[in-house]
Amino acid sequence: MSHFLDIHKTDPGDLRAMIDQARVMKDARAGLPKGTPDADRPLENHMVALIFEKPSTRTRVSFDVGVRQLGGQSMVLSGSDMQLGHGETIADTARVLSRYVDLIMIRTFEESTLLEMAEYASVPVINGLTDRTHPCQIMADVLTFEEHNGPIKGKKVVWTGDGNNVCASFLHAAGQFGFDLTFAGPETLDPEAEFVDLARAQGSKIEIERDISKAVIGADLIVADTWMSMHDAQSAREGRHNQLAPYQVSEQVMDQANDDALFMHCLPAHRDEEATTAVMDGPKSVIFDEAENRLHAQKAVMRWCLGV
Ligand code: CP
Ligand code: NVA
Repeated sequence: MSHFLDIHKTDPGDLRAMIDQARVMKDARAGLPKGTPDADRPLENHMVALIFEKPSTRTRVSFDVGVRQLGGQSMVLSGSDMQLGHGETIADTARVLSRYVDLIMIRTFEESTLLEMAEYASVPVINGLTDRTHPCQIMADVLTFEEHNGPIKGKKVVWTGDGNNVCASFLHAAGQFGFDLTFAGPETLDPEAEFVDLARAQGSKIEIERDISKAVIGADLIVADTWMSMHDAQSAREGRHNQLAPYQVSEQVMDQANDDALFMHCLPAHRDEEATTAVMDGPKSVIFDEAENRLHAQKAVMRWCLGV
């Protein structure tokens, strides 16, 4: 049994195998109606619980559809409707759910909730986003990059804006997949030093650059995310906007990167804030491939967790 808690906690060979398997599964489904099960049904007779303590469109639908394509069954649970949201401990919830289901995916606030779920569950647990990381997103992003531009190893990724949970998982992936990452954002929103140091220790070149025009020189991929994450206090909004406005990804910014550079955003986006609509809908944007690839990447993650 394997939990998928974070990219830096997962064996690099296993990560590579998941990306490759995701691509094979995606290719095998080309042109089929979305509801068609895969030819092999490795999750047949498996029940999956998808728990959300925060809103979601992509994670919720892609996991649900992915389970069904793999031949399994899923239930989507809202944390606030569960006893979990009314004082039952995570540990008890984990032990109870493990009697009913074969796999648990949870989107939550504190990382400690995820870790406690994994500690007490006797079935695999998948991180569907915490305040600190979002590993499933970056699995989809690596798949998307490689589909368009080949191996990500040795490439330069530029993260713009807030050094948030998605940025953290990108840093983890830099170390594990062997690419470089430049953070372009204000000092107050730097990514966690622990994650920067870890990627550097694994041999990745990680740079912190305050000037976005300098950061994007030589970039193969430019990434933006919302300036306010779901866990951020609304009182931070105005300050964030003032600090992050200089890091908006515009066509001028994209033009300073390599000619074949791609633009990614995990979505949901605030159009014309972190990136302009012209970039998001422009020829270098692969945002909807990214969204689709959540499905294929997570199917590989679930198979790895269950060893099927
Ligand atoms: N990118 C992402 O995780 O989207 P949702 O919040 O819609 O799941
Ligand atoms: N950083 C964002 C990602 C949403 C998918 C958030 O945590 O709200």
